[in-house]
Amino acid sequence: IKITIIDREGKSHQIDAPTDMNMNLMEVVRSYELAPEGTIGVCGGMAMCASCQCYVQSDHELPEMSYDEDLMLAEAFHVKDNSRLGCQIHIHPEMDGLQVKLAPES
Ligand code: FES
Repeated sequence: IKITIIDREGKSHQIDAPTDMNMNLMEVVRSYELAPEGTIGVCGGMAMCASCQCYVQSDHELPEMSYDEDLMLAEAFHVKDNSRLGCQIHIHPEMDGLQVKLAPES
């Protein structure tokens, strides 16, 4: 599926995200090197660091937030109404056309 990711410098990247590898959005960003190493996915995808925070800019219905994600976002910086943790969003065919912007590093 095609996903548009706007990096922390504001540059837009349209990338192909595989739906058959059980990847999450944070892993996709890392695999395309859209954020410097060590600035995203710090906790390894455990919903414990918020380094993978992103803003969902398209109107896709994403899976509900888990308790852990909600809790982490309650403590994170730069949180907006459309904030999600990239590591908690598993790539799914229905996400074709998704557009997200990486939150600033905190
Ligand atoms: Fe740490 Fe997502 S990688 S919260």
